[in-house]
Amino acid sequence: MKKTVLITGASSGFGLTLANQLHQQGFNVIGTSREPEKHAAKVPFKLIRLDISDDNSIRSFAAALFQHTTQLDVLVNNAGFMLTGIAEETPIELGRQQFETNFWGTVKVTNALLPYFRSQKHGQIITVSSIVGLIGPPNLSYYTASKHAVEGYFKSLRFELNPFNIQVSMVEPVWFKTNLGNHAVSATQGRIADYNTYRTQVDAATQKGMDDAEAPDAVVNTIAKLIETKAPKFSNPVGKMTGMILFLQSYLPKMFEGSILKSVAAAPVRNGARAKQGSAA
Ligand SMILES: NC(=O)c1ccc[n+]([C@@H]2O[C@H](COP(=O)([O-])OP(=O)(O)OC[C@H]3O[C@@H](n4cnc5c(N)ncnc54)[C@H](OP(=O)(O)O)[C@@H]3O)[C@@H](O)[C@H]2O)c1
Repeated sequence: MKKTVLITGASSGFGLTLANQLHQQGFNVIGTSREPEKHAAKVPFKLIRLDISDDNSIRSFAAALFQHTTQLDVLVNNAGFMLTGIAEETPIELGRQQFETNFWGTVKVTNALLPYFRSQKHGQIITVSSIVGLIGPPNLSYYTASKHAVEGYFKSLRFELNPFNIQVSMVEPVWFKTNLGNHAVSATQGRIADYNTYRTQVDAATQKGMDDAEAPDAVVNTIAKLIETKAPKFSNPVGKMTGMILFLQSYLPKMFEGSILKSVAAAPVRNGARAKQGSAA
């Protein structure tokens, strides 16, 4: 029998593409969205309401889930958003919201399902982290911190789940074309003039990354392969140059830092205007 796969954030981007692909391949797919009524008619899989930043929503979701299925094999923690901007200009409250979703939300959804996985003595948890869970680019301090946090959390948790035959993997994409940039949040006030030139450059570098991004297929195929693999790897970076980026960071850190500084300085600033905020993985 094909597996039952739960995908959080299945209304857009990676989650939507993955859910459609797995559904087509015959998996029993259950997706989530904060507004299922807006998307349900357009998708061929079940869509349940879930806001991972809201404890009540997670409770109602966990109670409703097993009315839709009697079996659950795989949880794909995919839901998330990106907070961009110069760290000193970003209110701490926005940083907290970034963690409430990307870190605490992911942890709480996982915790809500662990009793089920433990009791059946099998399961798989795949979490969509980011290459910025492994490296630290500018303009993305809180997003980067939230992805480092999920990386660290699951790095430890996987050993505790090993006795119950629950597999844990991370997927770490670079830039891919989804709606992450359109849904990105950044501070609208509190600009500090000292950063004006740097902000324009770093925004342009972010925009360039987004413009050069590939379609999400490689990420979706990586997750689909992990679901079919008996002993999946923990860390799975995906996308252009990931091998080179991680090699440079580990073995040639000065060159790595230099290349980040150079890419910000060289980014084409359009008419000196502030580039649109965009996805940087
Ligand atoms: N695109 C990239 O280049 C890239 C690279 C590395 C990592 N990622 C990661 O990939 C994951 C998916 O993002 P995406 O690129 O596919 O972006 P996207 O197109 O904006 O999709 C984000 C999904 O997350 C859901 N979501 C957002 N906040 C939520 C919340 N509080 N509770 C529940 N669901 C929520 C949204 O669903 P609703 O709005 O319907 O609730 C939507 O389905 C994220 O974790 C992101 O950090 C993306």
